[in-house]
Amino acid sequence: MEQLEIQGGHSLKGSIRISGAKNAALPMLAATLLAQGAFRLRDVPCLEDVNIFIRLLEELGFKCKKEETGALLVDSSGLSSHEAPYELVRMMRASVLVLGPLTAGLGRAKVALPGGCAIGARPIDFHLKGLELMGAKLKLREGYVEVRARRLSGARIYFDIPSVTATENLMMAACLASGVTTLENAAREPEVVALGQMLQQMGAHIKGLGSETVKIEGVRQLSPVDWKIIPDRIETGTYLMAVGAAGGKLVLENTVPSHLDAVLEKLKNAGLVIDILDETTIRVKRRGRLKSVDVKTLPYPGFPTDLQAQIMVLMALAGGLSVITETIFENRFMHVAELRRLGADIRIEGRSAIVRGVSSLAGAPVMATDLRASACLVLAGLAAKGKTVVGGLNHLNRGYENMDEKLCSAGAVMKRVKIEETV
Ligand code: EPZ
Repeated sequence: MEQLEIQGGHSLKGSIRISGAKNAALPMLAATLLAQGAFRLRDVPCLEDVNIFIRLLEELGFKCKKEETGALLVDSSGLSSHEAPYELVRMMRASVLVLGPLTAGLGRAKVALPGGCAIGARPIDFHLKGLELMGAKLKLREGYVEVRARRLSGARIYFDIPSVTATENLMMAACLASGVTTLENAAREPEVVALGQMLQQMGAHIKGLGSETVKIEGVRQLSPVDWKIIPDRIETGTYLMAVGAAGGKLVLENTVPSHLDAVLEKLKNAGLVIDILDETTIRVKRRGRLKSVDVKTLPYPGFPTDLQAQIMVLMALAGGLSVITETIFENRFMHVAELRRLGADIRIEGRSAIVRGVSSLAGAPVMATDLRASACLVLAGLAAKGKTVVGGLNHLNRGYENMDEKLCSAGAVMKRVKIEETV
């Protein structure tokens, strides 16, 4: 197992280049199931989750090859299976994104049901109900969902909650269905819009991207494309907040400021000095102690749930009282117990965490439980006095490309150490 030993108290300076977005790369990899031939995806982030998805595509018969430029070549002409095995799905629940494309492209799919995960039950009922409305026949057996459809037909699908991957799965399925599919109360995240734009480039007829109603008119065939993955807005937000935790000044390059309106607003209200230098560059600096602000996570364009744990670190050190409300997932406060070990004063009341700012945190060993909690603990280690040891780095490796190298290049002091697994 790996852990990160962080020496707190070093402020940040310099610049960091943002990588391609994990949550755009995963659905775009799934979209390669919709057309035969050679795709080229640029700015694919080097992440554990992406590697698992590539393994899944290879299981299905694809040939994937990384170019020196960092681009990924995906040849889908060898598609020979329709089954996503449990051992891969349990490692990465976004594997469920192959359901829609396989059903639309091959007429059948067999995908292991993703279990719950640390942050919540995360059912996939919207995905399955949508496919049924499009005419698919579903069978749940031995932990797998088996889907069959001669050809999907267009349908009107209303989401009780604007689910990101359900919107993506059904938008992909609808591209090859006969007739028009309308997705109502659809997710509007930039990653959903980017996927839709890639599908349009492949020949799909999609209207309403970025709004709550997306209309897709099915076509008979799509073609492979050469496509660039959008920068990661959650990685961007994490490094903005790293300055909030450690102090100093950073320039973040290759990002999209307009994807972070709610986050930038919140961080400015907390007292961070943020300048948009151009349409791909943000400069952030901290002057003095931050102010406490209230935060409520919401579907896009609201404040993202994937930055809730990170902003909690800033509020743990701000001057006042902050109420942080998590409305998306039912169990996304596991980082609170770990922050308390560092001296944070946080009380949980239902879906809210009441954070009373303290003057300083003290380093200690802590354990990450999920991807964004691991990022939060790294930020806390930057701020805490003394040494913080963050365990459970497998979570961090899933979603952040070279986080420790990027932060060390900006003045942080930390190192990865391998430790023997204790029984
Ligand atoms: C996506 O997950 C992201 N993952 C998550 O990022 C992100 O936190 C989440 O969207 C919310 O923004 C990817 O894009 C790969 P949802 P997703 O469906 O699609 C409920 C990270 O850290 N729901 O939008 O799984 C669900 O339980 C990860 O990068 C149903 O009830 O999230 C949740 O309460 C974590 N039934 C709410 O909707 C369904 O069929 C929103 O979930 C689907 C979802």
